Amino acid sequence: MSSSRYQITNLGTGKATEIETLVGSEGPEVLPLGSLYRDHGVFTFDPGFMATAACESAITYIDGDAGVLLYRGYPIDQLAQHSSHLEVAYLLLNGQLPTADQFKAFTGSITRHTMLNESLLRMFGGFHHDAHPMAMVSAVVASMAAFYHDTTDIYDPRHREIFAHRIIAKIPTIAAAAYKHAQGQPFVYPRNDLDYTSNMLNMFFAVPCEDYKVDPLHAKALDLLFILHADHEQNASTSTVRLAGSTGCNPYAAISAGVSALWGPAHGGANEAVLEMLADIGDVRNVPTFLKRVKDKDAGVRLMGFGHRVYKNFDPRATIIREMCHKVLGQLGGSDDPMFELALRLEEIALQDEYFVSRKLYPNVDFYSGIIYSALGIPRSMFTVMFALARTAGWVSHWLEMIADPAMKIGRPRQLYRGPARRDYVQMVKRK
Ligand code: CMC
Repeated sequence: MSSSRYQITNLGTGKATEIETLVGSEGPEVLPLGSLYRDHGVFTFDPGFMATAACESAITYIDGDAGVLLYRGYPIDQLAQHSSHLEVAYLLLNGQLPTADQFKAFTGSITRHTMLNESLLRMFGGFHHDAHPMAMVSAVVASMAAFYHDTTDIYDPRHREIFAHRIIAKIPTIAAAAYKHAQGQPFVYPRNDLDYTSNMLNMFFAVPCEDYKVDPLHAKALDLLFILHADHEQNASTSTVRLAGSTGCNPYAAISAGVSALWGPAHGGANEAVLEMLADIGDVRNVPTFLKRVKDKDAGVRLMGFGHRVYKNFDPRATIIREMCHKVLGQLGGSDDPMFELALRLEEIALQDEYFVSRKLYPNVDFYSGIIYSALGIPRSMFTVMFALARTAGWVSHWLEMIADPAMKIGRPRQLYRGPARRDYVQMVKRK
């Protein structure tokens, strides 16, 4: 594709600026508007970044109209079928699929970084038993800079590499510690003989008083969910990691900011909200009444797990997860799970409803993921932590890409000010 030329003209003064578009390897052309303020004294205004690219990236590509998601060029369905979360993490971090030797070295490094400093582990004791796990995870991740000083020089590539491996290795341990703290159970240390997801399941569900054997089917299902959640280009949490990281803050602080941004129900918190919604609906017979409330703008109710800023056709991850629900629930003997049946029926009814059709609202990645997490025994309050755990690979990749870019600048949006114009201070006694 070749670039196009645009002209921006002030129709009052006739002053015109020609702008040539930037052309990426995929996707629409991009108008570089950075010089508008210099040349014309005007800002651009695009709340919610509806049509604004905030950075260049070579990590993930989404075509929302065609339902395409590529990690480093590889289609998500191929990765879901053939790869593993750690291989995908390597791909996102390094840009290429690993050779056997590279993968061995990478998994070896991740495996050797799984333990947490004991003082960091003791931090969990300071939280109330019913603290939301996302609050604990975000706080503990932010605190890592206080424990791992040897990886906070962001200008040292080796520090950056160790940080990347360390956070990817330790995030399941942190998630498990949050879970065990909420359960009032003793913490279970990581086991380096287990693969990434089996180790996570063991840390979650093993107890000192009896044997626990990880079901390989559970580990595989979890691994697949992690692949699907590993990255999604410039979403709210990734953009938060980039914005925080652009200040030069330590990388753990940037990732913690991402965890906090992910927590909201419009983003990663939707998986928890979907199961709450399904429980509230309770029965297929209540679906029409529920959808009536969703369509009533005054009710302030959304069909959680539906709609996406970028996907206006279908979310390819949702299609894979729906299939996986059939398979996993079938194998686990829960194919008649009432929540899954309700979700299927809700989707079917919504997809025939003019409200959702006209707005191009389809199920997103979070519509079905919670059903699988539930089938694996993971409680609702941990769903968004699972998302954070998987997305850590993406956040770290974006942070690394940004920090290594010589053109990196602090992120600093402008605004359309609508507050009071300049006015003079009035003494309190004279105020009415
Ligand atoms: N239920 C009902 N109406 C909806 C929904 C929904 N889930 N999503 C969008 N709409 C309507 C919205 O009311 C608006 O209607 P109108 O044009 O009449 O005012 C129209 O569709 C466009 O919505 P929007 O809020 O302007 O779209 P957005 O791109 O700003 O929001 C979204 C995207 C994901 C925040 C939104 O679709 C939503 O709130 N969905 C439910 C929460 C959810 O499932 N989030 C997970 C997203 S996927 C995982 C992730 O990336 O974290």
